[in-house]
This record gives sequence, structure tokens and C-alpha cells, in this order.
Amino acid sequence: MAIDAGIEHPPIVDLSNYEERKEEITAQLMHAATTSGFFYVKNHGVPQDLIDREFEVNSRYFKLPEEVTASLPQVNWAKHELLGHEPCNKVSEGVVREGHFKWWDTHKVADSAYPEEKLVPGFKQTTKDFMGAMPNVYDRILSCFALGLGYPEGFFKEASDVRDSDNYSVFVVNYYPKTEGITWKPDTNRITPHTDETLVTLLFTSPGSAGLELAAGKDGKAVDSQQGHYQVESWHPCPHIPGCIVVNVGDSLQAWSDGVLKSNYHRVRMPKPGEPTGERYSMGYFVWPRYKDIIQGPQKKYPGITFARFMDVKSKGFGYTLSPELEVFEDAQNRNVVLGMPIVSDGIAAAS
Ligand SMILES: [Fe+2]
Repeated sequence: MAIDAGIEHPPIVDLSNYEERKEEITAQLMHAATTSGFFYVKNHGVPQDLIDREFEVNSRYFKLPEEVTASLPQVNWAKHELLGHEPCNKVSEGVVREGHFKWWDTHKVADSAYPEEKLVPGFKQTTKDFMGAMPNVYDRILSCFALGLGYPEGFFKEASDVRDSDNYSVFVVNYYPKTEGITWKPDTNRITPHTDETLVTLLFTSPGSAGLELAAGKDGKAVDSQQGHYQVESWHPCPHIPGCIVVNVGDSLQAWSDGVLKSNYHRVRMPKPGEPTGERYSMGYFVWPRYKDIIQGPQKKYPGITFARFMDVKSKGFGYTLSPELEVFEDAQNRNVVLGMPIVSDGIAAAS
């Protein structure tokens, strides 16, 4: 963890002069990814103006009347339809009159996910432009991880190529309404602790946002598993840092690295006293491999499994069912809190 202006946060990695500094950047990324699994990147190449405009169109999107957003395609995990609007996900029904709204796009034929142009002028084009700027960021990060792990430099490029019809990497915009005037139980989370299913996740936060935290174990590094159970010693802040993107390693990359790179637990909690209580927006870009890709490292630490099947398992762990062929994973589901792939071999969860 680095200390910046008195705030502890994951390290910042400078991506400038990438070609000349590739070795140095690789070393820094590997250090961050093998410890907390979280880091920031700066000089990442996404124009600040584009980031600002994307936040701006999102703020207008989430002010649409409910009847409009209800008329858009609705995200349905049960049917694996990750496109369009995801309505309010109550933090705690009856306790917190607060929610978490999302909107999704996947690069695929997604025009139906967008409201009419006249309702949110510029929303569609700005969002398409923003999504189009993402590969330039994650291609470099994944190239470094490939090199750091001893793979060919382009090892993850094919799997993460959104032009492939089997790649459904998703872009999600999040809206958290203001919390003024409402009450909640202590330790209430807006997003409960979880790991991401991704290769890497890119998260854009807005000034004044707080609440994103990552887990740490006894030595201040990534949470480790103990006999298959999830242990959190402490939570560490991952604050907004101007000009930076928050990046974290996901389960797929952890498995492909035989557990060397850490997919760490994180959460978004409700504001603490004194923290901003206004509206909060964030934008997450989830870099997935293709569904058909078999995720397994050279040491075969985890059983080989396609990303499609992994998503079946993972989604069930979150309370969703994507396919009917999951009974073999029942035992693992109860221990889906293990840091690492909740993948089973002979019905036993594999812990990292
Ligand atoms: Fe996440």
C-alpha cells in the first residue's frame, strides 16, 4: 500500500512511454497484482475530456423517468441478458431507502439498450467512444501480465478481443443516489464483498466518491483462504485519485496465473460520518475472456474450465442460476467465499 496525502491506497503505476518502459511497468504491475491485486494506472491514454463527458451523459441518463428506463431492455442474470437497465438493487429493504442502479452495454448489437437520442442527447455516441477507448488501456496491462507470467506477450489479446463474437466484455455504469436523510444499519454495504470474474476490471470513479474498499489479510496483503473460508482482517480504502483508473485482477486472471495474481475481495460501503452524501457515479469496464476459453495456468493449479462454465458457477454463488447443470457445484457454493476460483474438483472447492 502506498501513502498519498495521508491516505493509504494501492500503488499507482504510470503507463506513460509504455514501449520504452515496458519492463519497469511490468515489474510494478506484477508487484501490485501479487500482493493486493489492486492498483491505479495514470497516464493511461483515455482523454480526461472523454471521461468527464461519459460521467455527464450518465448523470443525465439516470435522471430519466422510471417509465423510460423500464421500457429499455432489462438486465436479467437468470437469462444471461446483460444489456440495458438494471433497476434499483435495494441495499437493505425497509432499512435503507437507497438503491444502486446500473446500465449495461456489451459491444454487441446493443442499440436497443440505449434510450432515444432526444431523451439523452449524446449518450449513445459518447458511450460508444468511451468503450472504444478501453482496449488501448487493458491491452497494455494484460501484455505486461503475460510477460510477467512467462507467457508470450500477446497471450491474453485473443481472449480479450471484443471483436470476437464470443467475447462479451461488459461496460457498466453505476448510480448511487444521495444518502442525505436516510438511515442504515452500521456496516451496511452498497455492494457486498465479492471478487470479479474478469481478467481485469477498470473502474472510473468521480471526485468526492468514497466507499470502495479492498480486503487485506494479516500481513496487509491480499486476503487468503483458511480451510476454504474467507477471512478479512481489515478493509482498505481505494479512494478516487484524479487522473487515475482503479484496476483490479479478476478470477480469470488469477486462475490463468495459477494463483500468482490475486483476485481480491472488495466492497462498496455506505458513507461514514463526514463523508460525502451526495449522488455517486462510477463506471466499470469488465474485461472478460471468451466464453469458450479454457481458463487454466501451466501448473494446472485449478481444474481447467471454460469461462462459460465458470460464470455458471460464479453466478450461482451470487444467487443467480444461468444453467441447469450445477448440482456438482452445490458443495462449492457454500464455500464460494474462498479467495480464488470457486471451482470444484470431485466436489471440493479449490482454494488458492
Ligand atoms: Fe467488483
